Amino acid sequence: MEKPDYGAITACIGDNPKQQRWRDHPTWGRELLQFHAPDTRLYQGAYQGEDLVGCMIAHPDKIQIRGTVFNAAIIAITEVRTANRNQGIVTEMLTKLLNQSSQLKFEVVLAFLIADRGGTNILKRAGFQKIHKYGHAGKALDKEKMDKLMDLNPILRKIALKIIDSSIGETTPPYGVIREATDKDLDQIATLLNAETARLDIASVWTPDYLKRKMDWRYKIFVFEDRRTILGSIISYEEIATLGKDYFTSGLLKEMVFAGGVEEENKNIMMNFVLNHFKEKGIPSVSYPSPKNVMDVMKKTGFNVLPSDDRSVYIKPLCTAAQQVLETSEKFRLINVFLIC
Ligand SMILES: CC(C)(COP(=O)(O)OP(=O)(O)OC[C@H]1O[C@@H](n2cnc3c(N)ncnc32)[C@H](O)[C@@H]1OP(=O)(O)O)[C@@H](O)C(=O)NCCC(=O)NCCS
Repeated sequence: MEKPDYGAITACIGDNPKQQRWRDHPTWGRELLQFHAPDTRLYQGAYQGEDLVGCMIAHPDKIQIRGTVFNAAIIAITEVRTANRNQGIVTEMLTKLLNQSSQLKFEVVLAFLIADRGGTNILKRAGFQKIHKYGHAGKALDKEKMDKLMDLNPILRKIALKIIDSSIGETTPPYGVIREATDKDLDQIATLLNAETARLDIASVWTPDYLKRKMDWRYKIFVFEDRRTILGSIISYEEIATLGKDYFTSGLLKEMVFAGGVEEENKNIMMNFVLNHFKEKGIPSVSYPSPKNVMDVMKKTGFNVLPSDDRSVYIKPLCTAAQQVLETSEKFRLINVFLIC
């Protein structure tokens, strides 16, 4: 097969059925790129003539690794058309992306892999090291709809249906109020999130401006407030999820953070409030790809870790300071970086 040409992209792969699911929002394909990857210099595409056969996009982020802040490029979406796989296309796009990231003075590059989807060797050959494995916890809100979508293998399906608990508990807190965030809340939310970041081994660094830019029709921030103090926040968005061959709109939780002293019961109530928000919109499930830090709340509100859905985080330092901090750290346990793949 003839070698592809590499160049810039303006949308993800055209034959991706995910894009057709957002019929209410015809500009979704473009918005997806803006949402995940606002820096077009971090897009890579592979073309066969006019056809886009491969794409790789990364988004810029600030992450803190054991106290030091680095400019990170996070590889978000990577896909090669089935007919064009195993020809070295991703290997080539990754090389180009790494060169570009170095030139743009990014200090680390992160990538995620879903278990069994391939790509591990490609990352290792490019000098990435695996640092963490995320489980992926999910909760069904509409059991019937999820049942119809599940064309998984029959055994997994049996297990999944058994553990699905679509009920939602109390959604009203005994004091204070749970509501959607406004611009005025963003300073307090960023402060809460950064206190959490400081506690973790590797995590995103937050600014009110970053949060403001993200809030849109599908990206919602909720807060638990009492007497003008934000005691907790959950950041959520809507995303296309895959189940077997089907694509459907799912709720995703990006962050969940609480001030010290918030009662477990109120954390659960806040989660229930958000679950109810998605249920009212007819969204059949919600998932969360970083359950370790908040496992208690997940368990209490009926989430289950999905058995075949592990995701691993890989990292590659592009500067000496990042190399040093990665070499001197034996193990990273608490990691929370934006995860999309
Ligand atoms: C995973 C995926 C991105 C890999 O893309 P790809 O273009 O097929 O990757 P490459 O061709 O560069 O490498 C794949 C294999 O082909 C080999 N290969 C075959 N021909 C090659 C060539 N001419 N040059 C270089 N490598 C070649 C590579 O060595 C590699 O094998 P290895 O991993 O066993 O060492 C692709 O399979 C895909 O789109 N999957 C679905 C989406 C997905 O899962 N994305 C990742 C999200 S976590």
